[in-house]
Amino acid sequence: MITRIEKINPQRPETLQIRNAADILKGGGLVAFPTETVYGLGADALRPEAAKKIYAAKGRPSDNPLIIHIAEFEALFRIVKEIPPQARLLADAFWPGPLTMIFQKSEIVPYETTGGLDTVAVRMPDHPAALALIRESGGYIAAPSANTSGRPSPTLAEHVAEDLDGRIPLILDGGAVGIGIESTIIDLSCMSKTADGEWIADEIPLVLRPGYITREMLAEVIGTVGDDPGLADENAHPKAPGMKYRHYAPKAEMIIVSGEREDVIRRINELAEENCQRGEKTGVICTEETKEQYRADFIRSTGSRSDEGSIARHLYAVLREMDTLGADRIYSENFSALRIGNAVMNRLLKAAGHHVVEV
Ligand code: TXA
Ligand code: MG
Repeated sequence: MITRIEKINPQRPETLQIRNAADILKGGGLVAFPTETVYGLGADALRPEAAKKIYAAKGRPSDNPLIIHIAEFEALFRIVKEIPPQARLLADAFWPGPLTMIFQKSEIVPYETTGGLDTVAVRMPDHPAALALIRESGGYIAAPSANTSGRPSPTLAEHVAEDLDGRIPLILDGGAVGIGIESTIIDLSCMSKTADGEWIADEIPLVLRPGYITREMLAEVIGTVGDDPGLADENAHPKAPGMKYRHYAPKAEMIIVSGEREDVIRRINELAEENCQRGEKTGVICTEETKEQYRADFIRSTGSRSDEGSIARHLYAVLREMDTLGADRIYSENFSALRIGNAVMNRLLKAAGHHVVEV
């Protein structure tokens, strides 16, 4: 299959272009498209055979459910059993935006889309081209990140092409994404309605995947929100099936070096020197503030410590680059877990298989 890459204006997408892409989706095909978080690989969410194509193209395990992308809050009514009051509050506060909510699914959502679960994940992306594509194609696009399974999520159309060239007919290239890390996932499927119409919670809503929207931001809107215990404990079973895979894994061995700034730099330089003597190539993931102080084969800054957003935006591109450069070992500085920094550390820990060295 030939993969076409079409530039699209992310803010004001051309109607004809959106129509052509929507035609592919309506015909049961796949289209990669930009969102504000990462690029998605879209298919008609309500057609089982379309969803199956996503799993095939990505090499994704079929028990890992997809997120349905919608363009209007009202679109929720068809795909979820009931809408708990928290969902309205969160949608008012954060949709369109980088928040995915999990609900009990309705009958029309095929198990192929939900990986066999009775729950469904839904998000309204904050991206004009994505919203236009969703509307034009019938309102429901299932879209995981548009990488092959196990690679970092794509933040540029070029990353999508690296992974999926020849496997899908169309990539819409809207340039670099704004956030760079996948949406926050909150599980509201713990909410159910009693016979007298009252909402009860079996447990407090949990964050299953950290992202740009933090647990604290969610709690400000709906009260207590917890973290899935599977996030902190690598041996616990995470509630989002996708979080159990060693995602975002570079080919090289990766280690996070944590401690005071100067100690971290000194230790990484020592390790790089030892690797060099063994004939091994070292990659360093650092920041604008420290990049001049390393001596190693490949030194890449992911952003500035004064702006956690910049670190999130470039992290996956840097991980991909380390693979391309052929580093044998990668050392990364650790980042403050403030705001989106928490999501950055979550992804880095997964990439490193939780391998952290304290200095
Ligand atoms: O930002 C994003 O969310 C991007 C863009 C394209 O929207 N999408 C994305 O999709 O990251 P994906 O498939 O790469 O990650 C979806 C995550 C997986 O960890 C999956 O297990 C979890 O969501 N998930 C989906 N449905 C679920 C459900 N019903 N219950 C629990 N976890 C679910
Ligand atoms: Mg993914």
